[in-house]
Amino acid sequence: MNPVHVSVMPQEVIACLVPDKDRAVIVDGTLGEGGHSRLFLQNYPQAKVVGMDADSVMANHAKKRIGADYGERFECRVGWNDELLAAWEGSAVDIVLLDLGLSTRHFFEMERGFSFSRAEPLDMRFNPAEGKSAADLVNTLSAKDLADIIYKYGEERFSRTIARQIAERRRMSRITDSLDLANIVSLAVPLAVRHGRIHPATRTFMALRIAVNRELERLERLLNIVPDMLAPGGKFGVISFHSLEDRMVKQAFRKRNRRYGGEFEVVTKKPFVPSAEECAANPSARSAKFRVLAKPQEGE
Ligand SMILES: C[S@@+](CC[C@H](N)C(=O)[O-])C[C@H]1O[C@@H](n2cnc3c(N)ncnc32)[C@H](O)[C@@H]1O
Repeated sequence: MNPVHVSVMPQEVIACLVPDKDRAVIVDGTLGEGGHSRLFLQNYPQAKVVGMDADSVMANHAKKRIGADYGERFECRVGWNDELLAAWEGSAVDIVLLDLGLSTRHFFEMERGFSFSRAEPLDMRFNPAEGKSAADLVNTLSAKDLADIIYKYGEERFSRTIARQIAERRRMSRITDSLDLANIVSLAVPLAVRHGRIHPATRTFMALRIAVNRELERLERLLNIVPDMLAPGGKFGVISFHSLEDRMVKQAFRKRNRRYGGEFEVVTKKPFVPSAEECAANPSARSAKFRVLAKPQEGE
């Protein structure tokens, strides 16, 4: 497997997530291809990086490649980051980075139905050994529950019509592949949207992926537990790609801010966004927002 994912905002990440000590412990909670992990390992030669990924294919790949280059300075854990961090037994952590969502490799290579341009099994689980797949949701939820998911997580204004079409269509046969679902969604939306700038199924697919992997629930939990795991001088950075996620991060960080009675400093008054050059070179970075929360040193 050659790397296909380009890490988002590498310069901003390295400039903001600077550990306060040499032998720092850095958690890359969304390891993926390990691009950000490598950056930390290269830039902070005495730091140790613990990478986490729910997808064992991604994790094992990163483990092999990064482990070969950095040995014991890199440790890889397979699992959901909120669960692994809630059970963390090590010392306080100096840096935690979350780069939310899926990797480019999921989209182009995994054949789990993340992409709507090819017929792939409609799965969308980061860990296919656990929980319900997108096909399970699409074929079993009531039209109302489906519409709610598509509206809430996809911010899709045609959610009800789309859910109704899905419910109609599955009465004939089970919906099992991504292209099938993409076509049903396309036919459900008005003509102008069907031929618009983005594929009409984009929001529905994103909503299903978020629901299948319980992404917002996990983020909520992480926003609660990570700040309290930080060592003095520690930093917590989150890169999000969805307005709902960014709102959650912004509000959670604000609640912890010293100005509002918390013990932390919000480093990013406004989130970092990728430059025009980065977006041109890596269109997947377009909607990214990066926010950072810092725990001041004692007495600061
Ligand atoms: C956007 S990619 C990370 C890319 C990485 N930062 C890089 O530079 O190569 C997100 C990765 O995190 C994993 N992931 C997403 N949510 C997760 C969660 N809650 N727990 C563990 N892994 C998660 C996905 O499987 C995916 O491989």
